[in-house]
Amino acid sequence: MFYQNKVVWITGASSGIGEALVYELARQKAIIVISSNQQEELDRVKQNCDKLQAECYIQFLDVTNPAKINIATTEIITKYGKIDVLINNAGISQRALVVETPVDIDRKIMEINYFGSVMITKAVLPYMIKQQSGYIAVTSSISGKFGFPLRSAYSAAKHALHGFFETLRSEVYHHNIKVLIAFPGRVQTNISLHALTKDGTPHGKMDEGQNTGITAEKCARQYLRAIEKDKKEILIGSTELLMVYIHKIFPRLFYKLARKIKPT
Ligand SMILES: NC(=O)c1ccc[n+]([C@@H]2O[C@H](COP(=O)([O-])OP(=O)(O)OC[C@H]3O[C@@H](n4cnc5c(N)ncnc54)[C@H](OP(=O)(O)O)[C@@H]3O)[C@@H](O)[C@H]2O)c1
Repeated sequence: MFYQNKVVWITGASSGIGEALVYELARQKAIIVISSNQQEELDRVKQNCDKLQAECYIQFLDVTNPAKINIATTEIITKYGKIDVLINNAGISQRALVVETPVDIDRKIMEINYFGSVMITKAVLPYMIKQQSGYIAVTSSISGKFGFPLRSAYSAAKHALHGFFETLRSEVYHHNIKVLIAFPGRVQTNISLHALTKDGTPHGKMDEGQNTGITAEKCARQYLRAIEKDKKEILIGSTELLMVYIHKIFPRLFYKLARKIKPT
């Protein structure tokens, strides 16, 4: 089994896609380091891992805190001596029009979704270079392929990840470090509940599209297989992925469809 005894660090591991990745890795006998900024939820995930008899180590971490990121990285290296796989998955979505969104909200989304992944990757990278091996993955979104109404900062952050991680891929090739960018479409998680509105409060609603997406478990299996197969990119989802091709091949149709999205 590819992941057996590999040390895999997952951010955003307390919910949704990240949590599903944890359990799939537990089944595949990986050593899993789980991070998020809710201790109780991490305790719950660890208890489930214990039931699966998997090694699971909690690193409570807000991905916007650079000092804590460095401490967490050192602690993982001290405990296990290596980090084989880093999955930058923590993220927050958005439901607000550009015209009504104060720039603080744009910055907050960029801090979590872009700089969080950048900072953790920079902390881990020297160890992977020393090891001359490693896998780094990041969870983008199909909103990282095109802009979409109500998600201006979210889409911008996901596009920024693409530029950063694509560059990284070329730079670390000679160190035997592989980089995957995952582009999920709609996955059944709580992401729309936590999405930030114009005043920074949570959207608090399960969007219909979200609810009809693929399961987080299916997403996690495809995600992990893509890392294992050293894919550079993977689109994960169902019919909504057609939008990626429509945007590329029939842009006028894409904008016609996108215009129909109404603020909720
Ligand atoms: N669900 C989808 O349809 C979909 C589609 C495309 C892309 N994605 C991406 O998939 C990733 C996971 O999202 P999800 O759908 O699984 O949503 P989710 O269930 O809301 O999970 C988000 C995770 O990110 C963590 N997180 C948020 N802010 C954080 C911070 N400042 N520091 C540390 N952890 C933080 C959350 O931890 P706490 O709960 O502890 O705050 C939670 O564990 C995100 O990057 C998202 O953009 C999701």
